[in-house]
Amino acid sequence: MKKEGISRRQLIVDGAKIITAAALVGAASGVSTSEAYTYPSQFKYKKLDIERVGQITYENYFKRWCCSSVLAGLVEPLKEKVGGAWKDFPIDAYKWAHGGFAGWGALCGTLTGAGIVIGLVTKDTDIAEAMSNDLAFYYSYTELPSFQPDKPIKAEIKHMTIAGTPVCHISVGRWMRAEGVGFLTNERAERCARLSANIAMEAARMLNAWVDGRYTPKHSPLYNVAANGITSQNNCRDCHGQYTPTPRETYETLER
Ligand code: HEC
Repeated sequence: MKKEGISRRQLIVDGAKIITAAALVGAASGVSTSEAYTYPSQFKYKKLDIERVGQITYENYFKRWCCSSVLAGLVEPLKEKVGGAWKDFPIDAYKWAHGGFAGWGALCGTLTGAGIVIGLVTKDTDIAEAMSNDLAFYYSYTELPSFQPDKPIKAEIKHMTIAGTPVCHISVGRWMRAEGVGFLTNERAERCARLSANIAMEAARMLNAWVDGRYTPKHSPLYNVAANGITSQNNCRDCHGQYTPTPRETYETLER
């Protein structure tokens, strides 16, 4: 990871101060800083069989959709291997995250699902943030879906695409264009099922490394609040074209 003389944690803190201050306007919360910290959680992790995580996720998709399928792929084996708090974990309580939050096309639900488990087991805001960031990079810049089920459930599909973003609408849209199919098709469902498997497997790979003390972040955070004055990837032109607006740089409510 690039450090460039300033620690990752410090950069997160600097970036987060802006966000925190903005979020606190008018809020009665007592939180005034936003440093990484650890927290307790009853949810323990043991190394999982990556292929099995993928297969469970894939099979669950057609009933539970993206977010809850990723949860099933990770949680079902943890129920067996670890038990404890996992036994009562309500996998379907997060089904609403499908389709980029109840079909709003925002963040791909697979990432929400994986992020929930990452947060529950790592118990450190900094590690969970780094792992989520790595997962967003994997999602956005890997040709997917590469998962091959033993037996395709809905359809054979031909294409893998690079989403370039973790945004559901853009990710699925780019794949649909490549494959030449609409959203309400067996092919699109098959693609999202396999993609869900890929994301659950990548999360399990990172968590397996982490539980062995071998996880180090692959990617730096985007730091875009610091660099561009607004949360985003460096893909402003994808949506704004040539005329990307310049964010305001003054904050009446914030000392910089
Ligand atoms: C996924 C699409 C998308 C991406 C990527 C994106 N934006 Fe936006 N952004 C929007 C939309 C849509 C609006 C709302 C525009 C409006 O209401 O006119 C917006 C609004 C804004 C605004 C506030 C509106 C204004 O006119 O001042 C700023 C500032 C802005 N974007 C800057 C950026 C910057 C800088 C980047 C890259 C670092 C970026 N955006 C990337 C979609 C995007």
